[in-house]
Amino acid sequence: MIETPATLRNSVAQERTKSIMSSSETETPPRPAFEVSNLSIWYGEKPAVRDVTIDIPSKTITAIIGPSGCGKSTFLRCLNRMHELIPRTRIEGKVLFQGEDLYSTGSDPTIVRRRIGMVFQKSNPFPTMSIAENVVIGLKLNGVRNRKLLDERLEKSLRMAALWDEVKDDLHKPGMSLSGGQQQRLCIARAIAVEPEVLLMDEPASALDPIATMKIEELIHELVANYTIVIVTHNMQQASRVSDRTAFFYVGRLIEFGETTQIFTQPKEKQTEDYITGRFG
Ligand SMILES: Nc1ncnc2c1ncn2[C@@H]1O[C@H](COP(=O)(O)OP(=O)(O)O)[C@@H](O)[C@H]1O
Ligand SMILES: [Mg+2]
Repeated sequence: MIETPATLRNSVAQERTKSIMSSSETETPPRPAFEVSNLSIWYGEKPAVRDVTIDIPSKTITAIIGPSGCGKSTFLRCLNRMHELIPRTRIEGKVLFQGEDLYSTGSDPTIVRRRIGMVFQKSNPFPTMSIAENVVIGLKLNGVRNRKLLDERLEKSLRMAALWDEVKDDLHKPGMSLSGGQQQRLCIARAIAVEPEVLLMDEPASALDPIATMKIEELIHELVANYTIVIVTHNMQQASRVSDRTAFFYVGRLIEFGETTQIFTQPKEKQTEDYITGRFG
């Protein structure tokens, strides 16, 4: 096999999956980050996700693929209760996060969204804020006032988002003055700054050029050491490059979920095969 960056990354992902698999043979496997059972989601009367049951493992990259409109974004938003911001949504079923019911009456959506961050398709820095303010805004909203702590977290988040070297001399320039790819990394830095446990990413690179996309993909690989990552993508090459596991959705249903290499080389379901071979999409 020719060793392109993609195949190299893939073999890294495979090694990681292997080590996860082999450790799970000897020890009790770690509890999944999310245990979703029989989740259905409606917009008004219209069902968007139907009866999805899936365990999303901790500290791995899970990709969600499927044609436009199959419910990827809707499903993702239910993992941090973001859908509650959309009127007339209703869910049935259960979502456990680290073993706790995300939707129990005692669960606070603001805390849920701090622990489970989200990065959107369109980078959305706050337009009136500087680069620095964009990163620390979440901390400030959480009541952090200590200048030293804010500065430390600013640098750490920008370093983790692989943006520090590019912006360290321009921290007071507007966030909007950055390029599209830099803005998306700024949004990742903003999501990381509040120290979440999970990053949900909804097509984070779909508006970016190939080089910016590659940077985001490399960044995702680095972040998985510390975070559970769930990434929605309609780009199958991207899913196969970045993820350990892949879930294929079709008309609101989870058709197949497995190791990424298995899904892309030996799918069990005919619909998965038809989709990954480009018969529809
Ligand atoms: N805010 C909304 N209001 C009503 N229907 C919506 C809304 N968002 C998505 N939908 C519908 O739910 C279904 C799933 O959409 P979505 O989760 O955005 O799919 P995907 O992300 O896979 O493209 C689609 O039929 C879409 O039209
Ligand atoms: Mg979507």
